Amino acid sequence: MPSTEHSTLPRVAVLASGRGSNLAALLAARDRGELVVRFVLVGSDKAVAPVLRLAEAAGIPTLALDPRGYPDRRAFDADLLQRVADSGAQWLVLAGYMRIVDADVLRPWVGRTINIHPSLLPKYRGLHTHRRALEAQDLEHGASVHFVTAELDGGPVIAQARIPVEAGDDEEVLAARLLPLEHRLLPAVLGLLAGGRLQWKNGQPWFDGTPLRAPLVLAADGLRAAE
Ligand code: GRF
Repeated sequence: MPSTEHSTLPRVAVLASGRGSNLAALLAARDRGELVVRFVLVGSDKAVAPVLRLAEAAGIPTLALDPRGYPDRRAFDADLLQRVADSGAQWLVLAGYMRIVDADVLRPWVGRTINIHPSLLPKYRGLHTHRRALEAQDLEHGASVHFVTAELDGGPVIAQARIPVEAGDDEEVLAARLLPLEHRLLPAVLGLLAGGRLQWKNGQPWFDGTPLRAPLVLAADGLRAAE
């Protein structure tokens, strides 16, 4: 790709704490030409996180910061998000990032930061979402991508993918059935955001020029408005 074209692409940073399958999905979508962005940084709070190795292999600058080296959460978050800003990122994706970000530090990034969460929000914020869906005997489970606000997993939901819960499902089976949908959902939402169809205005998401009244739905051919 010519460097001038490269330099005008929307710039995206990713924060993640774990294995990085969602990052892999973002990179695959980019490589297929479905997601037209440039990844400028992958950061983690865990130096040993496989997601960093994946980013290195893809030639993306990486950053590992250890929270234990900071006096408190806010100091850590401030340093981390300063480095994200220094990377030139316009958009920030939390892809399995397992920490809450301080509200004041996050503020300049509200409307520019999305998170993927493995539940049909507002159900099951926080951890153990698959277990909680099973315990509640839900017939349906899913994943959500939402704008990140100060409230844990509480920002406006942009889009969701749904799966049926089947007899005999356990946590692992359910998580494994959901993951491929997460891998379609996150690149699709990032594409809308970086491409300008999805916007944050007056404290809420807008889609194609009107306020988003209900989360978009992941269908076979991509995201569509809820009926
Ligand atoms: C995903 O299930 C995501 O929804 C949740 O954490 C998991 C991260 O997986 N927030 P990976 O590191 O992207 O493989």
